[in-house]
Amino acid sequence: METMDADSLKGSRMRRILQLGTFVVFVWWAAVIKSVSAVFTFIFGKDYRLAMFGKNIKKNLFLLDESIVVTNNGSYGTIPKKVKETQWKYQEEMERCPDIWFRYKVKNLWNSSLETVAKFVGANVKDLVFIANATSGINAVLRSVNFQEGDGILITNQTYGAVQMTAQEICQEKKAKLLVLNVTFPTSDMTGSIKYQVTEIVEHYEKVLQENTNVKLVIIDAITSISALKLPIKKLSEVCHKHNALVLIDGAHAPGQIPLDLERIGADFFVGNLHKWLFAPRGCAILWVSPKFHDVIIPQVVSWFHDKNLQDRFFQQGTIDHTSYTSAAAAVQFYREIGGMGAITKYNSQLATWASTTLAETWDTEVLPIPESMRAPFMAVIRLPGELSAAYGATQKGADKMMSDVYHKYNVIACFISIQASLWCRVSVQVYNVKEDYMQLGEVVLQLKEECVNGFCPKVEKAAEPNRWSWYEDPQLSS
Ligand SMILES: Cc1ncc(COP(=O)(O)O)c(C=O)c1O
Repeated sequence: METMDADSLKGSRMRRILQLGTFVVFVWWAAVIKSVSAVFTFIFGKDYRLAMFGKNIKKNLFLLDESIVVTNNGSYGTIPKKVKETQWKYQEEMERCPDIWFRYKVKNLWNSSLETVAKFVGANVKDLVFIANATSGINAVLRSVNFQEGDGILITNQTYGAVQMTAQEICQEKKAKLLVLNVTFPTSDMTGSIKYQVTEIVEHYEKVLQENTNVKLVIIDAITSISALKLPIKKLSEVCHKHNALVLIDGAHAPGQIPLDLERIGADFFVGNLHKWLFAPRGCAILWVSPKFHDVIIPQVVSWFHDKNLQDRFFQQGTIDHTSYTSAAAAVQFYREIGGMGAITKYNSQLATWASTTLAETWDTEVLPIPESMRAPFMAVIRLPGELSAAYGATQKGADKMMSDVYHKYNVIACFISIQASLWCRVSVQVYNVKEDYMQLGEVVLQLKEECVNGFCPKVEKAAEPNRWSWYEDPQLSS
């Protein structure tokens, strides 16, 4: 008895010493980090982190080919070296013994990576799963909801083309109705257009939902792809619910570009790509499902665990490479290490504003008129000179051909699109971009314009179908 008491006394003393030691080390480490940060701030000013961005970060932290000017992060995103190395490490580990990886390791890594992402997007981890991309998430939701003949799916003319096609396909299959709400921009070639403000777009949704009581599900873009329009997703979710419609947010461009608090948006479903703006390996996205619908939503690929919970069903989709998912935590860590949302937003949005204003001046055109509060922070859309719309044709086929010409002739990657019968350029800004990228883009567009004026005749096939990417009318559609 005597000895045991002495032992446990010793044990508890040791525990306390260890706890105190850990606390002291923690305080010391925090103090070191704070003072290093204070020294940097003193020497370089409070935006010292921003000084790392641009050419430095492109050369040192990314795998991008420095000889190519890239102004289109929005389409595919870019992976930093550090995150790629994490993925390679996991892939090596998988190959060293696939049995160990698949049977004993990957689920834990998947879970812990998902927890990190859940914290980043303000979600309860139980409501979140990894998916390959936004398209597969949208498909999973649309194919799981029990649409009946006559039910409606509401999208907009700005909805991403592949999502429009999915919605159209489901409507055909289920004899449901596709409704398209037209968002127009008050550009100089439009007459009678509506000048959108956040409150007006909410009212527009309200009107369409009042007039179409059959709408069962509404797909709302957090940020539209072609027009870089940031929609008020929280307010719109409330309006849709008021009219008994389910809400699926297409947040393909949201994670990393705008702050997210998924639990508070009030939607039923949310999909978001992590490979566009959050530096995750390509093929890494999330699907958030409100707890009410966990039992309803099933992945496209049904496999083992089909009868288990939401996460098990989405984890197990046959034998796949999960390493883009297990590396997502490293992407969040990278995002934080380079300064987090504050520093990244400051750099990217300032440069996006500068680039769009400068390009509109250089081309003597205009920036797509979007109210300040609805502008995507890292993207902007600028009208291209009219001579180019005339030479290439203001269709997506024309825009694609021009993209190809600008790359093959001038080594510049840019994104051109067709909106309201005119060609536009959507610029993206990520931390590796610099002013010179957009200056070069400005110059090559002017050179191409000169070539067209002097007789260069691009071969563009005439578009045989309606252009899904822009002004989109369908006889079925109201509003
Ligand atoms: C708004 C929007 N939704 C969906 C997608 C589809 O994303 P993914 O090709 O990764 O499935 C995109 C892609 O750019 C998009 O911009």
